[in-house]
Amino acid sequence: MQEIILQTPTMTGKIYVGEDAIKNRLPALLQGQKNFVLTDTNVYALYPDFFKEYFDGTEIFVLAAGEENKNFQSLQSILESMSKAGLLRTSRLFAVGGGVIGDIGGLAAALYMRGISCVQIPTTLLAQVDSSVGGKTAVDLGGVKNIVGAFYQPCEVLVNPAFLQTLPQREIKCGIGEIVKYAALNGEIFDALCKQDTLDEPQFLTSLIEKCIRHKAQVVQADEKESGERRSLNVGHTTGHAIELSTGLSHGEGVLYGMFMETQTAMEKGVCEKEYGEKLQQIVRKALALTPMSAPDFSGIAKDAEKAKSDKKNTGNNQITMSVAKAKGVWTTLSLPFEKYVQALENAVNSL
Ligand code: NAD
Ligand code: GLY
Repeated sequence: MQEIILQTPTMTGKIYVGEDAIKNRLPALLQGQKNFVLTDTNVYALYPDFFKEYFDGTEIFVLAAGEENKNFQSLQSILESMSKAGLLRTSRLFAVGGGVIGDIGGLAAALYMRGISCVQIPTTLLAQVDSSVGGKTAVDLGGVKNIVGAFYQPCEVLVNPAFLQTLPQREIKCGIGEIVKYAALNGEIFDALCKQDTLDEPQFLTSLIEKCIRHKAQVVQADEKESGERRSLNVGHTTGHAIELSTGLSHGEGVLYGMFMETQTAMEKGVCEKEYGEKLQQIVRKALALTPMSAPDFSGIAKDAEKAKSDKKNTGNNQITMSVAKAKGVWTTLSLPFEKYVQALENAVNSL
């Protein structure tokens, strides 16, 4: 098991990666106080032995699976259940699931009694390489992604790649969406993805989990609240979130299309090196080809782009600001007036 330390002004968090991470760490974390588990219906049904072995007698809240449940109503039910269970300040919340459970669980932990310890146990590839680390917690509101939330670091993240064995192929692809983001930021991950033909090969993915986490931990450590370097972790996300909301694609798929389109735009604007940008787009194509799906209908892309206006990076002056890849291991921001952004997206759709 590998140990990665993530130190911020508010917390020293520990991340453990490996098949023995849970076995080695979970029993000690469960000792001595009333705890609370948040998971979703799919994970709960798939892993009865895991819940029995570690969480027998612990209050377990099973949320209906799906992004549509990452909302205020669910948050309120979770908090009510925590209160009813009599959790104390010393209690811990264990979020066992994908990014939806991690985000809403982290927020519930941040709010309950003004903050109790949170342990993330990510079970999707996306959550293992990205969302369980770094302390972004949120729910969606009024059709806007992650608009209500808090930065709240988990005390520990326990990453066991064995959970990925039950993950549907489409969810593997979504996780690869975030891995491609790290390829856009990290030369070593970029080279690994360029060389690898079958991106979903399990051993290959396992080898990337730790690399992505190490990259993210370093970025978050330098800029926890996203005033500078952490914006890099939004590469592909401005357009990706807009696509996710308007097409109903999942987060990772939206990020893949967003990455393709924003890279195309950055190349056209002379911000991204052409040869490098095309290689990055090749990786995106390899990832998108992992599951057969008909191309989403982007005929309404101009209307979809409206959703990008609600992105948290914008300053409200009719400009859309994106984090984009510039060259191997180098990123930058690109701001365009809204009309130019729409035009660029329309061009990008044509080169998909
Ligand atoms: P998810 O949590 O909805 O999980 C995807 C699906 O996989 C769900 O149906 C879930 O029940 C199922 N699942 C989970 N583990 C499984 C397993 N081991 N085997 C089989 N099925 C399993 O979605 P996600 O893709 O993990 O996360 C997406 C969410 O993460 C979005 O809400 C996004 O906004 C958020 N996110 C947050 C951050 C962050 O930094 N906090 C970063 C990226 C994404
Ligand atoms: N997923 C973006 C971040 O954690 O900053």
